[in-house]
Amino acid sequence: MASLVSHPDEVKVVSKRFGQGATDIDRYLELDGYKAVQKALAMEPDAIINEVKNSGLRGRGGAGFSTGMKWSFVPKQSAKPKYVLCNGDESEPGTCKDRLIFEHDPHAVIEGVMIGALAVGAKSGYIYIRGEYRYLSIIMQKAIRDAYAKGFVGKNIFGSGRDLDIYWHGGAGAYEVGEESALMESLEGKRGIPRIRPPFPAVVGLWGGPTVINNAETLANVPHIILGGSDWFAKLGTPKNGGTRLFCLSGNIAKPGVYELPMGYNLKKMIYEVGGGIPHGRKLKAVVPGGSSCPCLTADEIDVAMDFDSVAKAGSMLGSGGVVIVDDQQCIVKFALRTMKFYKHESCGWCIPCREGTDWLEKTLTRFHRGGGMKKDIDNMQYLSENMLGRTFCPLGDAAAMPTIAFVKKFRKEFEDHLDGKACPYEKAGAMELVHA
Ligand SMILES: Cc1cc2nc3c(=O)[nH]c(=O)nc-3n(C[C@H](O)[C@H](O)[C@H](O)COP(=O)(O)O)c2cc1C
Ligand code: SF4
Repeated sequence: MASLVSHPDEVKVVSKRFGQGATDIDRYLELDGYKAVQKALAMEPDAIINEVKNSGLRGRGGAGFSTGMKWSFVPKQSAKPKYVLCNGDESEPGTCKDRLIFEHDPHAVIEGVMIGALAVGAKSGYIYIRGEYRYLSIIMQKAIRDAYAKGFVGKNIFGSGRDLDIYWHGGAGAYEVGEESALMESLEGKRGIPRIRPPFPAVVGLWGGPTVINNAETLANVPHIILGGSDWFAKLGTPKNGGTRLFCLSGNIAKPGVYELPMGYNLKKMIYEVGGGIPHGRKLKAVVPGGSSCPCLTADEIDVAMDFDSVAKAGSMLGSGGVVIVDDQQCIVKFALRTMKFYKHESCGWCIPCREGTDWLEKTLTRFHRGGGMKKDIDNMQYLSENMLGRTFCPLGDAAAMPTIAFVKKFRKEFEDHLDGKACPYEKAGAMELVHA
């Protein structure tokens, strides 16, 4: 079980029930549980969608798309059943927030799925949990059973005359099934590789039916929005970035952990005040602001508000909220290599730029880090990465290319320091290894 950290600047919305025993359904009810879904049952579907739209809630899975807008794309009439899927695959290195939600507040996810289902007219919801999160799947299965036993889920929910089923599904340990269309393939019992789009899931999704797919943190925010109101939620963050965010601080940081901070919280303050700074008197070298797929920021680029738009303006992405801190004793080439090993391993192999590109990058970085690199390798790595961008079926290819481009551009000197057969001048335990420790 993960231990909880805290800081006075935290604003607890999605984490407010953490450590409160809310896995017990009666305790969850004492803590305002299942009130939001009852309120939503008395609302028109469009009113629910508008409330979520106006709250400024944007997807916490990575892309930051407006949740209300996504829900509004689902056609009102459909010959096929509609579905709501909760994406709990959480496999981005540096990101470990959804696990806390499943561990401490599983009913909030169920309630979020139910409200999403009422908004789009779905009768079934699926909660897909990362294969490695076995212990969390047990918590979630119990929560679903308890919700059925109380009559909150199933036939005639809350005496409303409406039926709504919730199912759990466990992954088999592939990062790629976090990608929404691959997740649907996996749920249908097939190999977890992505689908070609269009059509998009909102129109043709699971078993061909219109489907909403949202991250677990996104859905866990929804009951709070319905109860607290969209104005309250929107004002917690910055314009167009409503609410708070679970930020996962890891790597070379004094107080690693998951902190819930308002959207737009300053990154420098997050590192030095919330995270307690860099241990052992070392200096900051780089930060990966939103999980391993996001381009790194250098130490002089961290005076940035942590919301989707501001981080994009700074040349990176807020992504899935994984803030990985790298100190001045770490080797960026090794860090890039560690990142690429992951993407090479996780590439599903369907498209050539991703399958071959990650393999070549991993091989080149390995040789380079060991002192066998040539000067032209530096430009080749950048050229190769740039040619992967936008040329793959799913964004995993981009996710591998983008950080590499930033590492080479921003830390070219470190790559050059490895030339002429020199051993790595920075050899120490990599920050990514700390993440995986
Ligand atoms: C390779 C890959 C892995 C992904 N993994 C996850 C994941 O583990 N969890 C998640 O919510 N989204 C993941 N996503 C993003 C999803 O495709 C999708 O955008 C997201 O679940 C939508 O939910 P949201 O709008 O609430 O963010 C991944 C995307 C890619 C390309
Ligand atoms: S980009 Fe990579 S992971 Fe995505 S479909 Fe292509 S080969 Fe598979």
